[in-house]
Amino acid sequence: MSELNKIALKILSNSKGILAADESTGTMTKRLEAINVPSSSENRLLFRETLFSSDGMKNYIGGVILYDETIKQTSSSNKTIPELISSSGAVLGIKVDIGAKILAGSPEEKITEGLDGLRERLKEYYKFGARFTKWRGVYSISDKYPSKLSIFSNAHALARYSALVQECGMVPIVEPEILMDGSHSAEDCFEKTSEVIKKCFEELALHNIDLTGIILKPNMILPGNKSDKKISNDEVAKLTLKCLKENVPTDVPGVAFLSGGQTEVQATENLNLINKYNDTNFIMTYSYGRALQQSALKFWAKDIKDIKGTQEVFNHRANMCTLAAQGKWTRELEDK
Ligand code: 13P
Repeated sequence: MSELNKIALKILSNSKGILAADESTGTMTKRLEAINVPSSSENRLLFRETLFSSDGMKNYIGGVILYDETIKQTSSSNKTIPELISSSGAVLGIKVDIGAKILAGSPEEKITEGLDGLRERLKEYYKFGARFTKWRGVYSISDKYPSKLSIFSNAHALARYSALVQECGMVPIVEPEILMDGSHSAEDCFEKTSEVIKKCFEELALHNIDLTGIILKPNMILPGNKSDKKISNDEVAKLTLKCLKENVPTDVPGVAFLSGGQTEVQATENLNLINKYNDTNFIMTYSYGRALQQSALKFWAKDIKDIKGTQEVFNHRANMCTLAAQGKWTRELEDK
């Protein structure tokens, strides 16, 4: 077993999942402004360290993805954030892309940037204790898009990123996200997600990536949020499994889904069904941002000093997600 494979399994095993707490300062500012909390670096730290020091971390979270600001911060208990996360048993991860920018040549689409100087930044993050990383490629669906150019160029960037990350002894999360925005059908999402994932693995192969040492972070197969053709959760789970079975090489140890704008309960219920029907060898778990943090954030906004109460909300959410990663979630447990 390679060292990279060991890290990937440490993150994903025992039905644990990943807490994606890597919102950029811009995104976190939007989230905090929406709940009327000023977006100071102290407040961003306070919310995050509240989650990182919860019991839910020890029991359910195998890895945490941080943003550059947070990995360099020190918590109120005087532990650095990397120390706080390590003491919970979770592996430290870091977002290393610098965001999705307009794709020259197809200006309605996006290309993720951050390759220049990446090797040096990775070395710095490794010294902070990071052992896995995230890079997100983003695609929209419409009658013309995603274009071949966006599918190719994002796959190429994801592969160049992955090669640098593995060279540095860390596990890359490969995240090609097809956005839920739009009026496309679930079939369109299935078709485009398949094409995108297939191209990613072609590029990963070209860049000699050790597939046992990556984690795939895809979207689930869903109709667009403006589509009038809704499908059942059962169909979401079955289409998602079919797409992954057809396009992901079996060497990949696991898949950690993004929540992508689903509600907390939707994201949990769909993951639960995916695990109920999972007839692959892939570990299927979560790497949620909003679907792990939304209610905790809302609760915290009422009194940012109520650490215990906020942690209870988070513990429940993480517990539900970890049950879903075993196909053992139920609505009764959800509403308890
Ligand atoms: P969401 O679960 O909120 O989609 O965030 C996951 C993530 O890391 C997106 O890059």
